[in-house]
Amino acid sequence: MTSITMQNSAKQLSRAIQLLNNDKLVAIPTETVYGLAGNALSEKAVNQIFRLKNRPFNNPLILHVSSISEMELYTKNIPEDALKLAQYFWPGPLTLILEKAKNISFTITGNKQTVAVRIPDHPLCLELLRNLNFPLVAPSANRSNHISPTEPKHVKLSFGEKSPFILKGGKCSAGLESTIIGFQDGKAEIYRLGAIEKEKIEAVLGYSIQTHKSDNDLKAPGMSKKHYSPKTALIITEDIQTTIRKYANLRTGIIYFSPRESYPIDHPFLILSERGEVKEAASNLFMCMHEMDQLGLEFIIAEMAPNHGLGASINDRLTRAAVQFDEK
Ligand code: TXA
Ligand code: MG
Repeated sequence: MTSITMQNSAKQLSRAIQLLNNDKLVAIPTETVYGLAGNALSEKAVNQIFRLKNRPFNNPLILHVSSISEMELYTKNIPEDALKLAQYFWPGPLTLILEKAKNISFTITGNKQTVAVRIPDHPLCLELLRNLNFPLVAPSANRSNHISPTEPKHVKLSFGEKSPFILKGGKCSAGLESTIIGFQDGKAEIYRLGAIEKEKIEAVLGYSIQTHKSDNDLKAPGMSKKHYSPKTALIITEDIQTTIRKYANLRTGIIYFSPRESYPIDHPFLILSERGEVKEAASNLFMCMHEMDQLGLEFIIAEMAPNHGLGASINDRLTRAAVQFDEK
């Protein structure tokens, strides 16, 4: 069985290499979410990514490389703390925003002088990167504002007939996008919460990091409030029982953070973590949103996670996916 699987992935890998060498796009597995990848040094491929995702050109892409020395070819003036984080967390779900070198186009960076870079921690993805003589740019492999894909079938759901070739690498282990860190006067700042806990990054750096204040939200739509949303209206709550009672007469699905003693009989429900752990919950979050979104419900009610560590990243994604009610 193993040899057939290995043969299959060798075949898939060479197909992916061939397509990428010819400026075509491939959906690639990473430990966070599937990415819609193209040759970062080909304007044709980069443009195609924006078009297929229907992504605004001012929302920059992440560069995926296979080593720190490769990163150094495409960036300059790397802060000491950035190197420290790269050495500690890579390969892994950490993206660093660094000054770009000349060989990185402004199409990739949304006209910024900086470029986002990471080394993904997925064996098949790393093997792919090592077999190419260019880095890959890869946003999450979903149409803009849809839920991120953590399994190959989610890529198909989002793109339908326009789905690119998918290099199948199983379910993404982390299931949440990378944590994004930028630098101001050499000091780290958080741009996006993600699969590495803020607290872990602070422990490595030895200081507490602030959230980056964008002077213009439109410059980084990934940071804007509404994002990653299911088609069904999502309601988030810290008090799940009260919210369920409030929506009892409507076709409502429930996403619990952890198991309960009993469940309402007339609502479909999913549990983010059987063990009540944030890591497991994070890896299941997008899958649960995708599943609930397929049921044709009026509302999805999701329970917030404990708000620290990965729980804060889960709550960040839930908040961005939720409908915003007018308080008045
Ligand atoms: O885990 C991940 O990061 C996944 C996998 C595929 O690697 N990728 C991903 O890409 O989440 P995407 O495009 O969905 O999100 C990239 C985020 C966006 O919010 C974008 O605005 C921000 O990174 N970004 C990229 N370059 C930037 C830059 N130079 N300055 C500020 N933000 C940047
Ligand atoms: Mg995305």
